[in-house]
Amino acid sequence: MKRLLLIAALICLCACQSIQQCPTDGRMMKCSLQEYPVCGVSITYNGQVKVNFTNHCIACSIGKVAFTVDGKCEEYPGEAKFCHPALAKSQCSNEYAPSCGYFNKSVNCLVPPCNVESANACQACTTNNVIYTIKGKCAKN
Ligand SMILES: *[C@@H]1O[C@H](CO)[C@@H](O)[C@H](O)[C@H]1NC(C)=O
Ligand SMILES: *[C@@H]1O[C@H](CO)[C@@H](O)[C@H](O)[C@H]1NC(C)=O
Repeated sequence: MKRLLLIAALICLCACQSIQQCPTDGRMMKCSLQEYPVCGVSITYNGQVKVNFTNHCIACSIGKVAFTVDGKCEEYPGEAKFCHPALAKSQCSNEYAPSCGYFNKSVNCLVPPCNVESANACQACTTNNVIYTIKGKCAKN
C-alpha cells in the first residue's frame, strides 16, 4: 500500500512540471541516483544557464543551481526564461515590457498553448502556475 502511494506520488511529480527551489544547504544533501530528470537553472549576470540533471536533489547538491523544473531542459523552448520560485508579486514593477507567461500542465485551457500576456515578466511569473515566460506579446494562433 505504502509502495503504491509512493508510485502514485512520483507519477504525479513527473507529470506536473513544477518548479522547485533548491535549499540553501543543498550541498549537504544525500541524493539517490533514481532518474526523475530535471532542468537545473543557475542565475548568471547574463541570464539563466540550464543543465539537465538526474533528479532535483543531485541538481541542488552542485551548489550553483537556484531551482529546478521537471523534465529535460529541451522539453521547453530554448528562449524560455523560467520563473524563479522566490519571486513575489510585491517585487514586480509596473514597467511595460510585454511578456508571455506559459502555464504548466496543471492548467487546461481550451486552445493550447496555455498562456497569459502580462505587462512584464515579473507579473507573468507571479501568476499562479506560470512556469516560464518568453519576451514579447503572446503569439496569436
Ligand atoms: C504546476 O503544477 C502543479 C500541479 O500539477 C502544481 O502543484 C505546481 O505548483 C504548479 N506550478 C509551479 C509554478 O510549479
Ligand atoms: C539534455 O539532455 C539531452 C539528451 O537527453 C541532450 O540532448 C541535451 O543537450 C541536454 N541539454 C542540456 C542543456 O544539458
